[in-house]
Amino acid sequence: MKIAVIQGPNLNLLGHREQNVYGVMKLEEIHTQMENVAKQNGFEIEFFQSNLEGEIVDRIQECIGDADGIIINPAAYTHTSIAIRDAIVAANMPVVEVHISNIHRREDFRSKSMIAPVTSGQIVGFGPFGYHLAMISMIQILGEIQAARAAQAKQEEK
Ligand code: DQA
Repeated sequence: MKIAVIQGPNLNLLGHREQNVYGVMKLEEIHTQMENVAKQNGFEIEFFQSNLEGEIVDRIQECIGDADGIIINPAAYTHTSIAIRDAIVAANMPVVEVHISNIHRREDFRSKSMIAPVTSGQIVGFGPFGYHLAMISMIQILGEIQAARAAQAKQEEK
């Protein structure tokens, strides 16, 4: 099974940008750790980052028929993007939303996520470790789907 990781605007600057809020880990380092966890658990994983809303919508659409689940940090688009939300609904697969900072204890405009109501769950405020928590959550969700499919196939054999 395949997990698609989608990173929104300015996350390419992790390690440099507002270190007091987002920490010192670079995006590539976060991705290397996620790749290790995916490999250990027998999952494929693909990474994508864009500063453009339409490219993020395109990437979500590409997941249809190709990926089994999405881990996404839509960054600033979290708070504004109906287009990303609609793409997630259209993709019709498990989605875990991640935020490095605790968006609920920052400016008021950050506490509203357009995306959260259409995801499996939201992980916020644990720093870059949140991506690891997202991996564990997604592996659990996809494992349950796999088990349900296997049980269904067995049932149909009878
Ligand atoms: C963020 C939180 C957003 O409000 C912000 O615009 C980001 C990063 C986070 O990971 O904490 O760019 O998504």
